Amino acid sequence: MIGDQANVSYLDYSDIPFINQDIEFPAPAAVTKLRETVAAADAVWVFTPEYNYSYPGHVKNIFDWLSRPVVAGDYQTPTAIKGKKITMTGAGGQGQTMKCRAKLAELLTFIGADIMPAQQTGITLNKEAWTEGKMILTEEQRNALQKQSQEVLNYIA
Ligand SMILES: Cc1cc2nc3c(=O)[nH]c(=O)nc-3n(C[C@H](O)[C@H](O)[C@H](O)COP(=O)(O)O)c2cc1C
Repeated sequence: MIGDQANVSYLDYSDIPFINQDIEFPAPAAVTKLRETVAAADAVWVFTPEYNYSYPGHVKNIFDWLSRPVVAGDYQTPTAIKGKKITMTGAGGQGQTMKCRAKLAELLTFIGADIMPAQQTGITLNKEAWTEGKMILTEEQRNALQKQSQEVLNYIA
């Protein structure tokens, strides 16, 4: 969808510890890598499920780390997330993850990310996704993702 027009990499966040200020400085190696990866990217695309009308804790954890200074007390150097172009897509039930994405937008705005004007996509998962773990996108959903991809590419061009 976008992979033939941009270099796309998937963030593996499985080794990122839960943030607390006792382990913040120096940052754990996985967090340094996360910050470097985000800093080097032209844009970040968040795909998230909705958990209880919000985004999951592990998504929040990533942005909490990205919102913090690299050196203790240095609030002058921009953080890795400051001004970063971001778009989001959610997957969940009938509500099309609207509440999740609204709350994520609030967080991203607070930490200074640049939420792209590209349309967001809210995916209502098909029945088999819930019963068999098999996600099947409708043509309408594919088209929405295609449109989002194009708008992202246009914005970062
Ligand atoms: C704790 C929890 C809360 C959930 N709350 C919602 C919700 O508020 N709205 C919704 O649409 N789906 C909700 N779901 C369904 C998930 O969004 C959906 O199953 C998603 O595919 C899970 O992705 P994951 O396997 O990456 O966790 C919830 C699932 C879990 C586990």
